[in-house]
Amino acid sequence: MQFNLNPGGALTGTLRVPGDKSISHRAIMLGALAQGTTRVRGFLEGEDALATVAAFRAMGVQIDGPADGEVTVHGVGLHGLRAPSAALDLGNAGTGMRLLCGLLAGQPFDSELTGDASLRSRPMGRVIDPLSAMGAQIESAAGGRPPLRIRGGRRLHGMHYELPMASAQVKSCVLLAGLYSEGETSVTEPAPTRDHTERMLGGFGYALRRDGATVALRGGGELRACDIDVPADISSAAFFLVGASIAPGSDLTLQHVGINPTRTGVINILRQMGADITLDNEREVGGEPVADLRVRHAPLHGIDIPLEQVPLAIDEFPVLFVAAACARGTTRLRGAQELRVKESDRIAAMAEGLATLGVDNQVLDDGIIIEGATQLGGGEFRTFGDHRIAMSFAIAALRASEPITVLDCQHVATSFPGFVPLAARAGLAVAAADD
Ligand code: S3P
Repeated sequence: MQFNLNPGGALTGTLRVPGDKSISHRAIMLGALAQGTTRVRGFLEGEDALATVAAFRAMGVQIDGPADGEVTVHGVGLHGLRAPSAALDLGNAGTGMRLLCGLLAGQPFDSELTGDASLRSRPMGRVIDPLSAMGAQIESAAGGRPPLRIRGGRRLHGMHYELPMASAQVKSCVLLAGLYSEGETSVTEPAPTRDHTERMLGGFGYALRRDGATVALRGGGELRACDIDVPADISSAAFFLVGASIAPGSDLTLQHVGINPTRTGVINILRQMGADITLDNEREVGGEPVADLRVRHAPLHGIDIPLEQVPLAIDEFPVLFVAAACARGTTRLRGAQELRVKESDRIAAMAEGLATLGVDNQVLDDGIIIEGATQLGGGEFRTFGDHRIAMSFAIAALRASEPITVLDCQHVATSFPGFVPLAARAGLAVAAADD
C-alpha cells in the first residue's frame, strides 16, 4: 500500500487517535495472568497488539473481542497458561516479543517466539542476557536475533539488574520474569523510561517497591483482575501535534491522550521549539494521566534536544525530525543510538527522506543534525517497512511544495489503524492506493 499526498493544507477539528500500544500489550498480558476477568476499553486494534491477543489465545486464554475497542480477558492465573502447539508469531512487535520472553522464561513448558522480517532482525541479546543470569535457558538465531527458543521448567532466581540501556521493554521483561522467580528481582534504569508495567502491576494488586531509578518485586504473588481504560496513544497523537504545529491555519484538539510523564518528551521538545500546545481536562484513568491536547500553528525554531528528553520521546523522533525540517535554524539530536534498532534504522531512514525533501542534514552515530528549510520539496519516499517513517513523511506534505508518495505503508496498521481516514478528516490531503 502507498500513500499519495497533495501538498499543503491545515489540520483542524477534534479527534481521538487509537489506543496506546504499550498499554494495550500489557493489558492483555497481565489480564491473562490475573485471577478473574479483566475488561479493557480503548484497546488498540492494531496488528501489534492483536498479535499479543493471538499469542495468549494460543496458550489457552479466552479473550473476547476486540469489538469497538472493548476486550474481555478471562484470566487463568500466573500458573494457568498452557503450552502453545506452534511458535508464537508476534508480527512486527518488539514489545510483544521482549515482554513475552520474560514471562515465558518462567513457564513449565517450552515455547518459541518469532516475528516478521523486521522483528527477526532486531537484537534480543538485551533480554536473553539478564534472563540467562536469572536461570533461564534461551536459544536464538545468530547474533541474538529471533526466533527465540525458550526452555520451560527452569527455576528462576531473582536478581538485581542494572539496565545497560534505557529500555522499558528490557525492564518489563526482567520484572515479568521476576513474577516467577525466587526472592526479589530489581531493576535500575540509567534514565527514566515508560513505567506502564509498574503502574499496571500496581493496578492488578501486585506489591512493587519503587525507589528512585530502581523498581523491585518478589516472585510468588498473585494478580487480581481489574478494568483498564486505555488512553489514546501519545505516539500516534505526535503526528498531529507536529502536523498542526507546522501547518499555518491549524487548530486541532486531540482527546483523551495519555500524558504519562515518561512519555511526554514530544510535548516538551515541541514546546521548546516554540509550539503552541495546551493541556485541558487533565484527569487520571486507571492509574494513567490523560488530557485533551489543543495544538495551534506556531513558528518553530531549532534547538539542541536535551539529553534527558531522549528516552521520553524515543518513538516520536521520526516526526520530530519533520518539525525540525520546518523550523528556523538548526536542530541537534545526540544520545539516541537506540533509534538505530527500532522497526528500522530510524536515523538512516529519516536522513534519506529529509534529503529527498531538500532538507540538509548530517547523520551522527547517535543522532542527527537538521537544518530547517523554509519550504520542503516533494517526491517519493521509502519507509523501510516502518510505520512511523511512513506517517512522518505523510505529515511532511503539509509543508511540501510538490506531491508526496510514500511507498510501502502497510505497516501503519501495526500501530495506527485508520490513519488515512482520520488524517484526511482533519485536513491532510492523503489517499491510500495499492503499490
Ligand atoms: C516500548 C518501549 C520502547 C518503545 C516501544 C514500546 C514498551 O522500546 O520504543 O515502541 O512498550 O515498553 P525500548 O524498550 O526498546 O526503548
